Amino acid sequence: MNNAFARASGRPATRPRPRTALVSAVVGLALVATGVMVASSASAATTLGASAAEKGRYFGAAIAANKLGDSTYVGILNREFNSVTPENEMKIDATEPQQGQFNFSNADRIVNHAISRGMSVRGHTLAWHSQQPGWMQNMSGTTLRNAMLNHVTRVATYYRGKIHSWDVVNEAFADGSSGGRRDSNLQRTGNDWIEAAFRAARAADPGAKLCYNDYNTDDWTHAKTQGVYRMVQDFKQRGVPIDCVGFQSHFNPNSPYPGNYRTTLSSFAALGVDVQITELDIEGSGTQQANTYRNVVTDCLAVPRCNGITVWGIRDSDSWRSGGTPLLFDNGGNKKQAYNSTLEALNAGGTTPPPTTAPPPPTTAPPPPTTAPPPTTPPPGGAGCTASVSLNQWNGGFVATVHVNAGSTRLNGWSVSIALPGGSTVTNTWNAQASGTSGNVTFRNVSYNGTVNPGTSTEFGFQGNGTGPSATPTCTAS
Ligand code: G3I
Repeated sequence: MNNAFARASGRPATRPRPRTALVSAVVGLALVATGVMVASSASAATTLGASAAEKGRYFGAAIAANKLGDSTYVGILNREFNSVTPENEMKIDATEPQQGQFNFSNADRIVNHAISRGMSVRGHTLAWHSQQPGWMQNMSGTTLRNAMLNHVTRVATYYRGKIHSWDVVNEAFADGSSGGRRDSNLQRTGNDWIEAAFRAARAADPGAKLCYNDYNTDDWTHAKTQGVYRMVQDFKQRGVPIDCVGFQSHFNPNSPYPGNYRTTLSSFAALGVDVQITELDIEGSGTQQANTYRNVVTDCLAVPRCNGITVWGIRDSDSWRSGGTPLLFDNGGNKKQAYNSTLEALNAGGTTPPPTTAPPPPTTAPPPPTTAPPPTTPPPGGAGCTASVSLNQWNGGFVATVHVNAGSTRLNGWSVSIALPGGSTVTNTWNAQASGTSGNVTFRNVSYNGTVNPGTSTEFGFQGNGTGPSATPTCTAS
């Protein structure tokens, strides 16, 4: 159990004091000796997050920044959940409303609320055909591919270290019987757009789990489910960095909970990815609704790699489908029958945590956001600077993250010269000013990152077509 989950559970993250541990051990032995099962109602967790945390899982909710002033809403959020997903605030139209101009203010409100209370955050979503800002809707081809990759890189970099799991790509498969991709402007940039997005996300935030997320993929027999399964299988075989699959699980009479749901979850998990229920809501009421929630939770707990459940809203009135009363709390914030069955199912799930499912180490490893990496060839006690490049290369393009490391004296400005292979061009640069787009390109600091204190570093990045640089860059203090 990580500390975030431990805090949300209302239980200490530290080990019990020896005296308490001794008493627990004696009681435990006595229970085992007399054949008594350990799950007594007196010890059952009383909130969703606390119960999920006991199993090493999270129980989250999609939330909206503009409701964080609603005391009923926030009261339930803080009491019940140990994970959040911004419902709309991290989508492309929200975070990059004008090309190259990023706005994280509403997403930050949610992330800060969550982190300050020990909740984890699911990021939703980096690349999607829907909710694109106007400037992106009108793009195509290489221009769009580069804009998408720049968006993925910038947003994932901004939140590096703060996101438990990212929905890197959302809803890229077609409904119906084809089992193939959905037509979209992103799909028309080439079938490899999804793997390119995952590689860019891994380079930007190596610590986040990277998920593919979709709806109508709950029924194992559906063509769409099988299409996504084949893609994940292919990604795992070829080493494309994917860690998890999100099942939205919006259930209603037209799209009911399928009896083979557990088969779907376990089949994907067997490919070597985590599975997460990412947008759960179940239209209905009373016992029918409560039983379906119970089934979903029980199925997740039966699959060791099902490491979290998120409901898509808190009260029925908060739901995108409020008419279907699909959530766990009524409009007044009262617990529904579905809440009780959900908590019961969580509490019935035992206390065994799932196996550790940290994402694999990245092939290229940029440093964590707040800690400066050591220079690869530090000038021993010297002045000046060094630079090193982390490269995320895919077929036809790359993202380079460049670390500028100060030596023993403070930098008041810097420039980094990088030789690009013939035919390669720079298409986007961030946190630096580039002198050109091909050949030997010099990147100079911008106004806010020229000063680098001794022994610390800053970083900039650029994206390009073709092959990324392989030669060691030259750093010059100015
Ligand atoms: O905030 C504005 C408001 O100022 C304005 O007056 C009003 C007029 O239409 O729109 C409001 O914004 C709406 C926003 O929800 C906040 O309520 C948008 O129009 C509306 O399009 C948006 O809908 C969101 C929808 O995604 C957009 O595709 C839903 O809230 C959100 O729950 C839903 O979430 C999606 C997941 O991202 C992906 N899976 C399906 C799921 C449900 O559709």
